[in-house]
Amino acid sequence: MCGIVGYVGPRQALDVIVEGLRRMEYRGYDSAGVAIVTPVGDAGSAELQVAKKAGRIENLDKELAGRDITGTTGIGHTRWATHGAPNDRNAHPHVGGSGRIAVVHNGIIENFSVLRAHLESTGVEFSSDTDTEVVAHLVARELDNGRGLGDALRATCRELEGAFTLVVVDREHPDEVVAARRNSPLVVGVGEGEMFLGSDVAAFIEFTRHAVELGQDQIIEITADAYRITDFDGIEVDGKPFEINWDLAAAEKGGYEYFMLKEIEEQPAAVADTLRGHLVGSEIILDEQRLDKQELRDVDKVFVVACGTAYHSGLLAKYAIEHWTRIPVEVEMASEFRYRDPVLDRQTLVVAISQSGETADTLEAVRHARDQKAKVLAICNTNGAQIPRESDAVLYTHAGPEIGVAATKTFSAQLAAVQLVGLALAQARGTKYGDEIVAEYNALAAMPEAISRTLGMMDEVHDLGREIASSKAVLFLGRHVGFPVALEGALKLKELAYMHAEGFPAGELKHGPIALIEDGLPVVVVMPSPLGRPLLHQKMLSNIAEITARGARTIVIAEAGDEQARKHAAHLIEVPATPTLLAPFVTTIPMQILSAEIALARGCDIDKPRNLAKSVTVE
Ligand code: M6R
Repeated sequence: MCGIVGYVGPRQALDVIVEGLRRMEYRGYDSAGVAIVTPVGDAGSAELQVAKKAGRIENLDKELAGRDITGTTGIGHTRWATHGAPNDRNAHPHVGGSGRIAVVHNGIIENFSVLRAHLESTGVEFSSDTDTEVVAHLVARELDNGRGLGDALRATCRELEGAFTLVVVDREHPDEVVAARRNSPLVVGVGEGEMFLGSDVAAFIEFTRHAVELGQDQIIEITADAYRITDFDGIEVDGKPFEINWDLAAAEKGGYEYFMLKEIEEQPAAVADTLRGHLVGSEIILDEQRLDKQELRDVDKVFVVACGTAYHSGLLAKYAIEHWTRIPVEVEMASEFRYRDPVLDRQTLVVAISQSGETADTLEAVRHARDQKAKVLAICNTNGAQIPRESDAVLYTHAGPEIGVAATKTFSAQLAAVQLVGLALAQARGTKYGDEIVAEYNALAAMPEAISRTLGMMDEVHDLGREIASSKAVLFLGRHVGFPVALEGALKLKELAYMHAEGFPAGELKHGPIALIEDGLPVVVVMPSPLGRPLLHQKMLSNIAEITARGARTIVIAEAGDEQARKHAAHLIEVPATPTLLAPFVTTIPMQILSAEIALARGCDIDKPRNLAKSVTVE
């Protein structure tokens, strides 16, 4: 939601923090700001220098140009606005104690209005509309009461409700940064004589590969040489150290104009890396499994919960799991799941899919499921994120960092992961023999190559994207596994190009949506395989004929060599043939490229679409 960076060490904090913010900008780009502790005179005293500006980091850069901000301790923030408009006044950091301390925050303080009213009744004046500012005043009040910085933050956190990562600097403690975490991410980078804080490791990967994960409701106090972690009551706890196993290049554009374009090309590797190591002999192995085999065998109902693109991979999980295990699967948007009181019990498996592992809706769905005694299996791209931490079993996708806000390579990696989960369940239930599992895995293992070939077949898709960029809307149709792909195509176009786009099951068209078809309207059709699904293939040809008769400009994604599709299509996009369940690995690729081209032709920033942020840590 928001990106946070903190630093203490020998370097100029401003440089470290602004660079870290650039890497965190995918988390929000409504405003950016820094607070640096600047020494004044020789007596160890210091002042806080704060700079903040609405808009992207370039605006902050302009604000900083010409200012002399030195100091080796500091914090920074890049914002996705929740409380208060995205303007200068609401940009973080927020200050308290007449400029003594500065705070940055990710999350929502749910009881902020009560706290604000109370503080105002004691004469505190607010200078923003944010929920965060109450924290600045509360910490300042505790410091005025004689507490140390860590204690002041602990006392403040005990008063807060909601989700938060908070990072605080105090000019009276110039060599220290303190931070708190509840339901919102924060990792610590441990360097040689320097410490870093970040919403994720990309904030400091340039400087260190040693990191420490903070648990829920914990506070960390860092100096250049040491850190100390406690709970909100001051009891010392251990952090969980880990090594960062990807390099800086993965978080950089590497010659591409946009991260998204690079990430599209990285899909073969994302799928290969996700599959690697999961077949041992003829057995599918998850990354973490705190469930015993009997518990998996006993599963008699599966819910898949996820949001956005992850929800679309969840829809595809249904095809795989039901096909291989015959266990009924329901796929539900995580934001709806817990509010309708789903029927869950000890034999229910909830599969939670989340790239970030921190999406609030999905996390709350996981918690609800666990409260009801259901088992939870997480599919996640972020090591140690909250959703996998709270799950009974985990399968990590290994797509590497995805900086573009629109999910691309993590979707492909999720497609691989849901297949592995389907096979793992089939194995536990005994509905697939070992040799069948191996055969299915081998088919999956051919997908990185199939994606590479698809990427090499997309020249005309780039041209087509530019050609249809001025259309007022685009529809997407699919059947069977092509339907979630159609939804994903529509979502990509909406978020990247701000165009009206809808995905439908093609058979549903006649029940209403066909009224949308008008002369020249582009309709992207995901064709089923003529050999794999001949009946659906025929039906889809009829659907194409129906919309063509009403003026649609059909763009048909079909297996190479599908001559009937060629005859029916205004534009044909060929992709390699795959087994039916695996077709989304290749049919998704033209959707991504088409959307990116349309968006670029319309002048949109495909890495940072308006109003969005990469992960949504508020409900
Ligand atoms: O981190 P998650 O996978 O939980 O995120 C879920 C959605 O917010 C995410 O997929 C979103 O829809 C993407 N912007 C889609 O491109």
